[in-house]
Amino acid sequence: MKKDDRNRTTTDAGIPVASDEYSLTVGPEGPIVLHDHYLIEQMANFNRERIPERQPHAKGSGAFGHFEVTQDVSAFTKAAVFQPGTKTDTLIRFSTVAGERGSPDTWRDPRGFALKFYTSEGNYDMVGNNTPVFFLRDPMKFQHFIRSQKRRADSGLRDHDMQWDFWTLSPESAHQVTWLMGDRGIPRTYRHMNGYSSHTYLWVNKDGERFWVKYHFKTDQGIECLTQEEADRIAGEDSDAHRRDLFDAIARGDYPSWTLKVQIMPFAEAENYRFHPFDLTKVWPHDDYPLQEVGRLTLDRNPTDFHTEIEQAAFEPNNTVPGIGFSPDKMLLARVFAYADAHRARMGVNYKQIPVNAPKCPVHSYSKDGAMRVQNVADPVYAPNSKGGPSADHTYTEKWSASGDFVHAPYKPHKEDDDFVQPGMLVRDVMDDGARDRLVSNVVGHLKAGVSDEVLERAFDYWRKVDKELGDRIEQGVRKG
Ligand code: NDP
Ligand code: HEM
Repeated sequence: MKKDDRNRTTTDAGIPVASDEYSLTVGPEGPIVLHDHYLIEQMANFNRERIPERQPHAKGSGAFGHFEVTQDVSAFTKAAVFQPGTKTDTLIRFSTVAGERGSPDTWRDPRGFALKFYTSEGNYDMVGNNTPVFFLRDPMKFQHFIRSQKRRADSGLRDHDMQWDFWTLSPESAHQVTWLMGDRGIPRTYRHMNGYSSHTYLWVNKDGERFWVKYHFKTDQGIECLTQEEADRIAGEDSDAHRRDLFDAIARGDYPSWTLKVQIMPFAEAENYRFHPFDLTKVWPHDDYPLQEVGRLTLDRNPTDFHTEIEQAAFEPNNTVPGIGFSPDKMLLARVFAYADAHRARMGVNYKQIPVNAPKCPVHSYSKDGAMRVQNVADPVYAPNSKGGPSADHTYTEKWSASGDFVHAPYKPHKEDDDFVQPGMLVRDVMDDGARDRLVSNVVGHLKAGVSDEVLERAFDYWRKVDKELGDRIEQGVRKG
């Protein structure tokens, strides 16, 4: 029976092939001939299937959806994506941080929450985590931090001694480490966790008024977490448990959603706020800046090709749109460089032409040529020109100022700044007795696994600074053997 065109195997050039099973040989027992170009195409393609994994956040899962504005925040931002009644297509990728592309989904780790809005004014990427804070406040330490969480040079093993060595020598990590070792350090699924911008961003309204903003995507499924024992069991049974849960939920029409709420600080209040408003290791307490609703994110479509749509997805904090800008958070400003650079290294200079990364609005850039460019470039190829080419909009600029000498220095402290105040609030005011017991048990378990005596002493001191009683309990737990 002659096969119709859809069912007929072809080469990548569309030419019918003679066999899916047998290579071309000289007689049934004879050698393979070099002109079996289909066999060679199959082998060559296979050898080149993998692209480099992301350095951090290598293991991830994603889905498509949309964001609908439900409340009017036009007084704070002119961004088209947040205007009343607007509905925007989105792509999300959830991830773990320290593991590799095949590592278990249930390892204790922060989770990435990377969101791309395909807005009418260009792609807007909100590349956040499931925690409102981070381990560091200066990007100089980020590379060292990630290396300390990944693998040793000699054995290629992950190493708790290395992790606690770095953390205890970096007291600014205490807030995030407290969070990580608590219940929320292992979400039950990607659907049952919040997402946060963590950083402060700038919003600008149509009259040019400026506001500082933090984003909180609150899960509509409710927060659910795994205990260490549950997570260890699941890691052995199904290392892709969270990927499977997300895919299956969407496939059966059980679409997960998140309500976006924001904290808004008037521009002028930043200078004298009691905590440094751009320090990524701090939250703004809700009593100071309450949450205000903006809209709802719903995920309703699975990828059909994981590689082209999720593995090749490129999220980058530099993608902001008119009405949304950066704050002077040093970590954020470094990230504005780091991601596009990583994408060029991972996928080549024209990664924005891969359909999942391409904006759904017209593009008029002066980028040209390079490996794998597939969009035709039109003349004129330079600016300024008198040939009718695009010209820049001079009203689209960042609006905050800075001055001073070149220095290598920490932020100037604000009145209540201290590395241990907010983790102490989390332990004493937010956690209940059960949550505190699980925190102690998680830290004790972690510290018992290969941490040297010198680092242990520093770890007890670190936890006593978070909370005296907590630190004493952790030391007792470790010493009990
Ligand atoms: P609030 O009492 O107003 O809020 C406490 C927050 O803690 C809620 O957002 C809650 O999240 C979250 N939370 C509850 N249990 C845990 C847990 N086991 N681990 C981590 N977070 C948890 O307090 P404040 O705003 O005054 O902040 C107090 C402390 O709460 C902070 O030091 C910070 O550690 C933590 N926190 C603060 C946030 C902020 O942006 N202000 C955000 C998240 C945590 P949910 O509502 O989702 O249950
Ligand atoms: C991924 C750098 C801090 C969230 C990455 C990647 C790099 C990177 C190079 C891999 C990108 C890729 O190959 O596609 C940095 C640097 C940081 C920093 C230099 C600080 C100076 C943060 C913070 C957050 C964060 C504070 C969250 C608030 C993420 C997420 C991903 C990621 C979610 C995965 C994105 C995806 O799903 O593709 N980071 N990072 N990072 N980072 Fe960061």
